[in-house]
Amino acid sequence: MRKKIVAGNWKMNKDCDEALLLFKEINSLLQNTTAKQVEVIVLPSFIFIRDFVSLSFKIAVGAQNCSTEDAGAYTGEVSAAMIRSAGASYVIVGHSERRSYFSETNSMLSKKINAALKNNLIPIYCVGETLNQRNSGNHFKIIEQQITEGLFHLNNEQFKKTVIAYEPVWAIGTGNTATTSQAQEMHAFIRKVVAQKYGNDMANSCSVLYGGSCNAQNAKELFACPDIDGGLIGGASLKAKDFVQIVQSF
Ligand code: 13P
Repeated sequence: MRKKIVAGNWKMNKDCDEALLLFKEINSLLQNTTAKQVEVIVLPSFIFIRDFVSLSFKIAVGAQNCSTEDAGAYTGEVSAAMIRSAGASYVIVGHSERRSYFSETNSMLSKKINAALKNNLIPIYCVGETLNQRNSGNHFKIIEQQITEGLFHLNNEQFKKTVIAYEPVWAIGTGNTATTSQAQEMHAFIRKVVAQKYGNDMANSCSVLYGGSCNAQNAKELFACPDIDGGLIGGASLKAKDFVQIVQSF
C-alpha cells in the first residue's frame, strides 16, 4: 500500500499571528475527524516550523526549500540540518516557483535532494511542465528529464524515502486544474519512468502527489485516480475547512 499524503504548501503567506491561528484551526479540525490513514503535512515559512512542531497532534511539518550546502558563509540560506533540528520531517525540493524565479536547475536540485536525505528529511520532489512545453508535445520528455536528472543518482534505499509531486505549471494558482485523465496519464508515466530505473515494486510503492488548483471540490475525483496518491495544495491549504475537506477526500 502506498502512503496517502495531503500536503499544504503555504508559500510566502501569513504573518506570525495568522499562521498560528490557521495551524491551530487545522489541528483542531483534524482532531475531530476520522481521516483514514492519511499523512497530513503543513509546509509553512521556515520561521513557523518549530512552533508548529510543538503544537501539532497529527500533522507533520516541513519546509518549502533547503540549501544545497551543509553550513557556512551562505547569507540567507537555510540548511537541511537546521530544518531537521527545528523538528521538520519533510522538505519540498524543486517547486516550479523556485525553478523559474530562482533559477534552480535539475543538477542543483539533485544536491538539495542529497542534503535532505542526509539530514533525515523526506524530500517532496516537484516536477511539472509549462503550457508551452505541453502544447508543443514535450511534456513527457520534460518530466522524464526532471526525474532522471534530479533523482536517478539515488540508490534504492534513498529513492524509497522520496516523494514525487506532479505540478503542471499551467495549473498552479490558475484555477485550471489538470483533468483527471491528464493527471492520471502523467502519474502513470512517472511510475513507468521510475520502474525502468528501480523496478516495478519501487514504482508501485512510491507516492506521487498531484498539485495545481487542487481544491475541496475536485480533490475526490483526482484522488480516485489509480496512480494519484494525494495532493500538494497551495491556495486551498490556507483555508482550514477546505484543507481538512481535502484530507477527507480519499
Ligand atoms: P495552488 O493549489 O494554489 O494551485 O498551488 C499549487 C502548488 O504550487 C502547491 O505546491
